[in-house]
Amino acid sequence: MALLEVLKFPDKRLRCISEPISEITDEIRTLAANLCDVMYDEPGIGLAAPQVGEAIRLIVIDTEWRNSEEGEITSKNPLILLNPEIVESDGTIVWNEGCLSVPDFESEVTRAARVKLVATDLDDHPIEIDAEELQAVCFQHEIDHLDGVLFIDHISRLKRGLYVKRRQKQLRREIEDSEAPLPV
Ligand code: NI
Repeated sequence: MALLEVLKFPDKRLRCISEPISEITDEIRTLAANLCDVMYDEPGIGLAAPQVGEAIRLIVIDTEWRNSEEGEITSKNPLILLNPEIVESDGTIVWNEGCLSVPDFESEVTRAARVKLVATDLDDHPIEIDAEELQAVCFQHEIDHLDGVLFIDHISRLKRGLYVKRRQKQLRREIEDSEAPLPV
């Protein structure tokens, strides 16, 4: 089956507030598996359902996969989190972030250094995780997606403005290229 497409800024669907999941259906299980496939294919360390156009509170995260020498991802151990919520946070940490929905851009973002996350898994069992460093950053980044927030919303207006301009130029070029007559 073809992989789901990751929506890219400035797609408006990335700005939706996602709905809580009240019942774990086969569709949700399938979507979770598809999200994992996309995450490992890109590859990324986290993906949220609204990034593939599904406005529900579901995220997948794997901050510990490794590449084999052949470039294959090994030791996959995805965390699939439904209705994730940060219930405690403290400290601050600055991390260089990127996002599969924000092409060709990275920037330092200040986040809470330590968080406690609660969620449920696909069997509707409660999950509670105390996270720090990369995992804490990743939880905050992915939960932001469920509230229509992107990491570029956390950087200075100036930096964001420069990125938006560059992205608009890139999109214009893509349109021009697609309209250009084929070489004979
Ligand atoms: Ni992201």
